[in-house]
Amino acid sequence: MRMVDIIEKKRDGYELSKEEIRFMIEGYTNETIPDYQMSAFAMAVYFQGMTEKERAELTLAMVDSGDKIDLSAIEGIKVDKHSTGGVGDTTTLVLAPLVASVGVPVAKMSGRGLGHTGGTIDKLESIEGFHVEIDNKQFIDLVNKNKVAVIGQSGNLTPADKRLYSLRDVTATVNSIPLIASSIMSKKIAAGADAIVLDVKTGAGAFMKDIEDAKKLAKAMVDIGNNVGRMTMAVISDMSQPLGYAIGNALEVEEAINTLKGKGPKDLHELCLTLGSHMVFLAKKANSLEEAYKMLEEAIQSGKALEKFKTFIAAQGGDPSIMDDPMKLPKAKFQIELEAKESGWVESIIADEVGKAAMLLGAGRATKDSKIDLAVGIVLRKKVGDKVEKGESLATLHSNFENVDEIKKLLYQVFTISPNETIAPPLIYDKIS
Ligand code: URA
Ligand code: CA
Repeated sequence: MRMVDIIEKKRDGYELSKEEIRFMIEGYTNETIPDYQMSAFAMAVYFQGMTEKERAELTLAMVDSGDKIDLSAIEGIKVDKHSTGGVGDTTTLVLAPLVASVGVPVAKMSGRGLGHTGGTIDKLESIEGFHVEIDNKQFIDLVNKNKVAVIGQSGNLTPADKRLYSLRDVTATVNSIPLIASSIMSKKIAAGADAIVLDVKTGAGAFMKDIEDAKKLAKAMVDIGNNVGRMTMAVISDMSQPLGYAIGNALEVEEAINTLKGKGPKDLHELCLTLGSHMVFLAKKANSLEEAYKMLEEAIQSGKALEKFKTFIAAQGGDPSIMDDPMKLPKAKFQIELEAKESGWVESIIADEVGKAAMLLGAGRATKDSKIDLAVGIVLRKKVGDKVEKGESLATLHSNFENVDEIKKLLYQVFTISPNETIAPPLIYDKIS
C-alpha cells in the first residue's frame, strides 16, 4: 500500500477501506508517513468529506494508536460527558457528584489544559487539600465505593490524534466535521467510556458558531459512537453568552456548590439536569429521560447530591466543610464593579470575550507553563434579557491587582445594552440520539 494512492483516492471522492485507514494512521503514528502527505490527506477530506463507515474506522484506528484506559474493574455502565468548549462551563463540577448520587459511576480523568480558566482539576484544587495524585487502584476503589473520583491524565492516549490535530491547526484543516468528530470521539473512547453524552455548544463562545454546523457535528459524533458500540447522545446548547454567572476557578466551585444546593443560576441548573438525565438514562438507572430528570431534581432537593460532593472531596483529601462555608475558598484582594454607563436591557454578552477578560485577570493559562490564580475571575451580575439601570453593576471583577482599567475597557465592549426590551436566547436548541 502507498500513501500517495490513498490521498488520490480521497481526492477523487472514493470511500477508503478499513485497511487503508489503518495503514495510514499506523504509518503516521510511527512516523513512516510524513506530515506533508498527511496534510494533503486532511485537505482532501476537508473538500470530499468521509462516509459514516470511514469516520468510524478512522476513530477506531486513532483509538488503537496508543494506550487505552481499562475501566472494566468498575461496576456498572461508565458514562462520560464531553463538552465542546465554552466559557465558564461549570457543568462537570456539578454533574460528577449529581449523577454519582443516583448510582451512576463517574470515573473522571481530567486535564489542566489551556483556556480561559483552568480545567476541572485546577478548579477542584481551589478546595484546600484536594488532590488527584492517586494511583490507578485507589482510583478504581474510590469509584466502586463512592461512585465518583477524579484522576489526572496519564498514559499515551491517541497519539495519532495529537499529531494530526497539531498538523490540522497549521494547514487550515481543523474545521472539517469528520475530522473534528473522529478526533473528539477517539479521545473519549480511549479513556474507557461505555457510553457518551455530548454537550455541543453553539454561539459566539463556541467552536461551532452556527447552529446548523453544531447539529451536523453532533449528529456525526452520535453516529460514530453508536457505530463503534458506545451508546451516544448529544444536547446542543447555547454558548452565545457564558453559562451561569461565574468564570474563574474558585468562583466556579462556589457556583457549583450553590447549584448542588438548588440555588444555582437557572441556566446552569437546567443544563446540568438535562445532561445529567441523559447520563442516568444511558447508565440504565432510569427507564426514560423524564424519570432520570426527576431523580436528579430529587437528589438536589433532598441534599443527597451535596452530600455526595462532600464525600468525594473528603475522599481525595479536600476539606468538605467548604460546602457549608464557601468563604473558605481562595478570595481575590479586590472586588471591582463594572457599572453600567446607560440604562436599558442587556442584548448580548459575547462569551469568548468575557473568557479573554477572565484570562487577563489570571484565571486561565496562556501557555502550558503559565501559573493560574485560583481566586480571580468574573461574576456576571446581568445576563441577556435582564433590565439594567445606569450605575448598576453588570459584572464583578475579582482581581489580585488593583488597576483593571484595560480589562474593564474590554468588558464594556462585550456587553451590548439596548434601549428596547430584549429576550434571553434559548438554552437548549436540540437533542440528538
Ligand atoms: N477538539 C478536538 O479535540 N479535536 C478537534 O478536531 C477539534 C476540537
Ligand atoms: Ca459558570
